[in-house]
Amino acid sequence: MTAIVLAGLLALAGPMSALAQKAGEDIEAGRANPEAASGFEAKNIVRAKRHMVVAANPYAARAGREILRMGGSAIDAAIATQLVLNLVEPQSSGIGGGAFILHWDKAQSELKTYDGRERAPKAAKPDLFLTPGGAPQRFFKTVASPQSVAVPGLLRALEMAHKSHGQLPWKDLFAPAIRLAEQGFKVSPRLHKLLGGRWARKFSPRAKEYFFNAGNKPWPVGHVLKNPEFADTLRHVAARGADAFYQGGIARDMVGALQAAVAKSGQAIDGMTAEDVKSYQAMPRPPVCTAYRSYKICGMGPPSSGGHTVAQTLKLVEKFDLGRDPMNPAALHIIAEAEKLAYADRARYSADPDFVPVPEGLLDPDYLNNRAKLIDLAKSTPKAQPGTPPEVAKGRFGRDATIENKGTSHISIVDRQGNAVAMTSTIESAFGSGFMVRGFLLNNEMTDFSFRPKDRSGRPIANRIEPLKRPRSSMAPTMIFAPDGELRMILGSPGGSRIILYVIKSIIAHIDWNANAAEAAAWPNFGSRNGPFEIESGQSAPASANVAGSAFNRSAFYERTRKYLEARGHKIRSGPMTSGAHIIILKNGVIEGGADPRREGRALGD
Ligand code: GLY
Repeated sequence: MTAIVLAGLLALAGPMSALAQKAGEDIEAGRANPEAASGFEAKNIVRAKRHMVVAANPYAARAGREILRMGGSAIDAAIATQLVLNLVEPQSSGIGGGAFILHWDKAQSELKTYDGRERAPKAAKPDLFLTPGGAPQRFFKTVASPQSVAVPGLLRALEMAHKSHGQLPWKDLFAPAIRLAEQGFKVSPRLHKLLGGRWARKFSPRAKEYFFNAGNKPWPVGHVLKNPEFADTLRHVAARGADAFYQGGIARDMVGALQAAVAKSGQAIDGMTAEDVKSYQAMPRPPVCTAYRSYKICGMGPPSSGGHTVAQTLKLVEKFDLGRDPMNPAALHIIAEAEKLAYADRARYSADPDFVPVPEGLLDPDYLNNRAKLIDLAKSTPKAQPGTPPEVAKGRFGRDATIENKGTSHISIVDRQGNAVAMTSTIESAFGSGFMVRGFLLNNEMTDFSFRPKDRSGRPIANRIEPLKRPRSSMAPTMIFAPDGELRMILGSPGGSRIILYVIKSIIAHIDWNANAAEAAAWPNFGSRNGPFEIESGQSAPASANVAGSAFNRSAFYERTRKYLEARGHKIRSGPMTSGAHIIILKNGVIEGGADPRREGRALGD
């Protein structure tokens, strides 16, 4: 065991923020926030020599490390980690949902990306989420409806990646999750807290039975929860591969549960069929790569908007000097203004590339040079407009109306051969749609589409619902390569459409301001999704942290930043920004891991 633990990186958190007191209620947004704050736990940086896994829960990180110690590859460890996450962090991801995977093959110097995004059923129509009067349905009601469930993609993507990059037999990777599901795991504070959210009222009867005690209360922290049904599901998939999930009894039960709910609601809506499930395919996709300063940044292309939006922002930021002082307000202004421009393009152009011609020119150097000229160092743009990248006919794409939620998890892994995985997985809202089948929850990824198919001018919205289409995502698993071509950084985060802000902050913190993996995750979150300047505040974040060796007082930082930005016309919105950035940095032969202090993650290495 060569992990070196450095103590005292961050000061201990203060009491929970008032904003975070009520489980899952995002007071500012006025609607359910499934990834609400649940406390701040200072995390030490972890250093290792051989391999490392960083994931959102200690049980899951241990499962990944167990596989790495057995000589498993990065993708082997990712599979074991993900299956345990499904069990112990069921609010965020699982086999009832989807994922995007970046895989780095060190020997071949090859980066591959796998799309395991959920897919709309064949019967899904553009007006699925409109009322008879043509207005968008209420978001929260839609989340908990059977129509919100898209065909899960996670297992097909894992299987595809394992076929190319696995070392250990597929079935061995299921052992840690099966064991834990049978023996039970301790309910964590975060799981307990999120079970107190109002969405839990909409759980299917089976989900209520599993998550609540006889008094209809969430199981307390520390309760040992067993899930033999899930163990049984995993045993089938371990033995027969993903076909056991996509064909046969498990698929029949998923479809049956949704059909029963449709019948009960009295609605005449066609939903997911056994054929939809059977025909699902994961897809290899080209990575989206760009140069930032002397580094190469690679991410996930469409149907995720993550890769392009991160890349566009960094290319715009690159044209400015961010200064040497970490998190200085002038730099934060530049980054937020760049994010506004990138989010404006994202909303207009990003969608499933098999249905919508996502413009290649989004990263065109001349286009971005012109976009950068829109950034005014002295004043904020209240709302950036999308640009017209080369080869886009003006007016072809409508104004987006997608509402996004935040139920997701991120895993970063490097194995002893230097192969790596960055995988972000999701079931969309906290606990997905609330439908539980065979021990796992089904996603509500259909609500990642725009409810309106057309904008007010009648132009089709790129991210509208269409049969067999994949909804746009914000997930941004990312790998960064150093000037010598070696892998430098593996990262990603949950957080709905704020994922992109969290990933950008972490990248700039490391590349521009030399933050280590734990600092890059812990430093205050901020940014703009083409609206107000959002800044993490209150006691959900630590009162103080060590920024690049100098004392850093969070309330002083907040006040200094607010004053500077308000003077430039920014509208400030503050509150919890619950990232779950899980970061590995490889430098000078040392592997450094940082887990986000806002969640329950761990970095474990040898
Ligand atoms: N469901 C979260 C995302 O795909 O961005």
